[in-house]
Amino acid sequence: MTNANPVKVAMIGVGKISGIYLKNITTVFKEVELIGVCDLIPERAEKGVQTVKEYIEAGAKAPVPKIYKDMYEAFNDPEVEVVLNLTRPYEHYGVTKAALEHGKHVFSEKPLAADMEEGTELMALAKEKNLLMGGAPDTFMGAGIQTARKVIDDGLIGDVIGATCAMIQHGPETWHPDPDFLYKRGGGPMMDMGPYYVTALVQLIGEAVGVTAVTKKSFKERLITSEPHYGEKIDVEADTYLTGNITFANGAIAQVFTTFDVYYPSQNYARFEIYGTKGTMIVPDPNTFGGPVLLMRPEDVAATHSDPGLRTGNLPAYAGYKEIPLLFDYNVNSRALGLSDMCKALRTGRDFRANCQQQYHVLEILTSFEKSSREGKFIPLTTHYTRTAPMKNNPMHGILDD
Ligand SMILES: NC(=O)c1ccc[n+]([C@@H]2O[C@H](COP(=O)([O-])OP(=O)(O)OC[C@H]3O[C@@H](n4cnc5c(N)ncnc54)[C@H](O)[C@@H]3O)[C@@H](O)[C@H]2O)c1
Repeated sequence: MTNANPVKVAMIGVGKISGIYLKNITTVFKEVELIGVCDLIPERAEKGVQTVKEYIEAGAKAPVPKIYKDMYEAFNDPEVEVVLNLTRPYEHYGVTKAALEHGKHVFSEKPLAADMEEGTELMALAKEKNLLMGGAPDTFMGAGIQTARKVIDDGLIGDVIGATCAMIQHGPETWHPDPDFLYKRGGGPMMDMGPYYVTALVQLIGEAVGVTAVTKKSFKERLITSEPHYGEKIDVEADTYLTGNITFANGAIAQVFTTFDVYYPSQNYARFEIYGTKGTMIVPDPNTFGGPVLLMRPEDVAATHSDPGLRTGNLPAYAGYKEIPLLFDYNVNSRALGLSDMCKALRTGRDFRANCQQQYHVLEILTSFEKSSREGKFIPLTTHYTRTAPMKNNPMHGILDD
């Protein structure tokens, strides 16, 4: 009886990212029920409810969420079991802390908090209250990264030697309606986009042990070209060009580069390669749930060198790689998959994948980039990490494994 008793969720923050959560909670994930929404800007909460009503009119089986006047009304609603925190990164701590203090389990957008002090306090509070806490990203649970993980776990590239990944773009002020927060405390490309890459790295390679990096801001101000703040300027607080190396417990080294300062074709901004003793794998954009996963083994390298057809003309960057079919479910934008998995854990008592131990380890890695640059030294990590379970293919889409 998997969906007889869905977990009741309240959404705090109905901004830009809320649309995909509203869609997936209402139409895809059958074990989660959105019973209320809340935003500092009441029209956003109203718009969220309207969106859910449209899915219901189109056939979705879901309640119409109520609107809470503020987050405390949601936290005091005895029906609410889980708080879904979709506020801005510098607000995560305050919202998550208050929700935990009111006895609610929390699933938060990334990152866990804006810095390690806040993260450490939240970890202690969740433990003390014996509440579940987890959060984004959940893209690593999608078909793409799960297939990449299986390629590694099945030994197809041998032992992992290292990785390189880059997220190169010229910043979100061209499309985000309120891009300010992306340059403030808790923002910047490493805290905003880094979670996708670093979470995928620890899922693929395992526990990290340290970070060395150099970081800077190339521009003191950014000009907003999206509506409704077109023409306004943002004072940049967070570093926006960060490059460094993460060392892992198994000896692997990952080069990581994230920036909001560089012009780059949008379809190319994610680069992610894993090198093993027996081959190389191209990992899909970790901000997506899909593929492609590409594999090159020594015999493929030999083929590229000997086949003149592969050497002439404009070689596509990944000529010579073989595409691995995706072996798991959830290959489109399935945000709320991690929430649904946590809700399943709440009902069954099993572990869940996008848990706070992972978020906390990732937060320490992310924040160590600026710290290493400032202090001019290698930063050994203090947090520990054990990979969460791989996904299982439940035949019922929208229902997680028991
Ligand atoms: N925008 C994206 O494409 C995107 C993608 C993935 C993840 N995220 C993550 O989602 C989170 C939100 O990002 P966003 O782009 O939706 O931001 P946003 O600014 O569009 O929305 C945040 C909303 O939270 C509301 N809010 C803040 N504090 C509140 C409180 N105490 N009570 C009620 N409402 C409150 C704000 O009024 C705002 O409407 C961030 O952590 C971000 O990293 C965003």
